[in-house]
Amino acid sequence: MSSDILETMIIASLAGGSILKKYFEEENFSVSQKSVSYDLVTSADRESQEKIISILSGRFPQIPIVGEEGSEQIPHYREAFYVDPLDGTLNFVHKFPFFAVSLGYWKDNEPIAGVVYNPISKDLFYARKGNGAFLNGEKIGVSATTSVEGSLLVIGFPYEEGELSRTVKDIKSTMRLTDLRVLGSTALELSYVARGIIDGYWEYALSPWDLAGGVLIAREAGAVVSAPDGGKFDLFKGDVLAATPGIYQELVKAING
Ligand code: IPD
Ligand code: CA
Ligand code: CA
Repeated sequence: MSSDILETMIIASLAGGSILKKYFEEENFSVSQKSVSYDLVTSADRESQEKIISILSGRFPQIPIVGEEGSEQIPHYREAFYVDPLDGTLNFVHKFPFFAVSLGYWKDNEPIAGVVYNPISKDLFYARKGNGAFLNGEKIGVSATTSVEGSLLVIGFPYEEGELSRTVKDIKSTMRLTDLRVLGSTALELSYVARGIIDGYWEYALSPWDLAGGVLIAREAGAVVSAPDGGKFDLFKGDVLAATPGIYQELVKAING
């Protein structure tokens, strides 16, 4: 059953991705603002979501779907697909080709299947619980880095003003150890941890659709995924830290020290 679900999620993410690619190349999408001036939605986000939902619900009509666009309140289902039809909209709008479709299937608070697809680089990341993580058919794994000093660390900035103080504190406590990056797509940042390019990534106050796919891909590639304070990861709280095991403990200490 879960391999069937993963297969359908891959088909849906490729279909959503080809819509994003077309708009990205033709530059004929409309843009509107959501919460703040850099929290955007485009006609590409909407069309991609519509297509993804039609494929998922066509094959699995009994499984609820939580899609980013049009979701005011986030329902807590026992099982659901979480759909981010375009993760990294600000990058997309500025022609920075670092964005993706992100799909996750969760059941009983556990991630079962995840897909992250960048239609420009054609990187298709996917994972099924207990079965490892893959990039375009090849098994991937986290980096062998063992020290935070000089590692490649990535952090994200939350949209909500009230959430910024934790991020600013964390930057102060980690910036002397290495040179931090902010790349603008949670799903790809988690997938790059899985791929062994990024050694550690953390961010606060994300939404389930940002995380549902990438968290499983990172875990299945060998990353430790928790809350940034070292507590259990909670999809609905949205605070995440994903790191290669060689630096995980040191990074938790550095962030919270
Ligand atoms: C955003 C990206 C970004 C993160 C934001 C997310 P969106 O998703 O993942 O990296 O910092 O918090 O909301 O809005 O481009 O789908
Ligand atoms: Ca997102
Ligand atoms: Ca989005």
